[in-house]
Amino acid sequence: MINSYLSPMKPTLFAALFLLASTTVLSQEGNPSMKTLIGENFALALSQYKLLEKNTPDTLMPRFFDPATGKAGTSDTKWWCSGFFPGSLLYIYEYTNNEEIRQIAEKRLRILEKEKYFTGNHDLGFMINCSFGNAYRLLGKPDYKDAVMTAAASLATRYRPSIQSIQSWNSSERLKCPVIIDNMMNLELLYWVSNNGGDARYREIALAHANTTLRHHFRRDNSSYHVLDWDLDKKEISKKLTWQGAADESAWARGQSWGLYGFTTMYAYSQNKVYLGQARKIAHFLLDHPNLPADKIPFWDYNAPGIPGTFRDASAGAIMASALLELGQYVNKKEKKKFVAAAVQIIRSLSAEAYLTRPGENGGFLIKQNVGSLPHKSEVNVSLTYADYYFLEAMLRYQKWHLKN
Ligand code: GLY
Repeated sequence: MINSYLSPMKPTLFAALFLLASTTVLSQEGNPSMKTLIGENFALALSQYKLLEKNTPDTLMPRFFDPATGKAGTSDTKWWCSGFFPGSLLYIYEYTNNEEIRQIAEKRLRILEKEKYFTGNHDLGFMINCSFGNAYRLLGKPDYKDAVMTAAASLATRYRPSIQSIQSWNSSERLKCPVIIDNMMNLELLYWVSNNGGDARYREIALAHANTTLRHHFRRDNSSYHVLDWDLDKKEISKKLTWQGAADESAWARGQSWGLYGFTTMYAYSQNKVYLGQARKIAHFLLDHPNLPADKIPFWDYNAPGIPGTFRDASAGAIMASALLELGQYVNKKEKKKFVAAAVQIIRSLSAEAYLTRPGENGGFLIKQNVGSLPHKSEVNVSLTYADYYFLEAMLRYQKWHLKN
């Protein structure tokens, strides 16, 4: 998200888009216009998410749907993805102004709220900023701001000054102090809280973490490692490795998207051109990659064995689309054209039958063909909450910056 950048859409506009959706406006190339496509996708999201709510027990969150087995997976609220269901409901509310969806979102926030005290890993940004951050932005309730403020304090307990990084996962037999590229996504929570009346130290932590990531996580080609394992006493990295990727030296697709999104967001907040430079380098690495398919939905790893006969990760595409639209705001005309065109291509691809569910399909999820962790044989070729969340966010960003209302 980026809290201050999106604003709610007027209900009258939603009604107009519904009309447009039913008359299918075509662009010059014969495809539906982006306005039509986005209107249709949010109409689908509205009905699918009501179904997903119905299919999910009140104390749990949806996690995945596997079309191969017909199995719907749920999670408790400690799972790193627990904020995406309420976050997506809020994005659907933002576009449609549908009261029932707002009520469902607020009902789901109530079971999530206790996790503002969670300190078991680094995922507070995903869990609380994508949910309560959006809720506060759209609904303005002080309790929602309190959840975000408290979560920042919880996340800050994981900052390790000796290595200027936030520890991602707790130490285990295999890893001493792991810091993963995904962690860049948790920094907005800290920065926003400092900018909105909270402790200024959180901003310093976010900046320190981003600077350490910049120094150590990237290879010469601007791809990133997934995991750095730090030795806190020696203040040095013991090992650079992967967890969810194909190999220690490969470019795990979602990790690359997290890095792109994370550095773009850090630039949006700090105006530090070094972060902008890194985001641009990542974008070019991804968009010029010989293994990026023509529809711009990445394989689960850019160096996966068996390409093209392996799985796509649509979530990596959705995150990339949202980040590229944001990044397009900060670069010159030529780069903007490249980044926005790629984001449009991704949104169009995800709106096609191969990736988008039909009404009633996949238990109410929206996006198909995602991979959680292939090496662990977990959540392979399934629907996942975060693919839906960043797809919806990308469409809102496109609507905000590229459609005349
Ligand atoms: N840890 C977040 C992810 O799987 O992308």
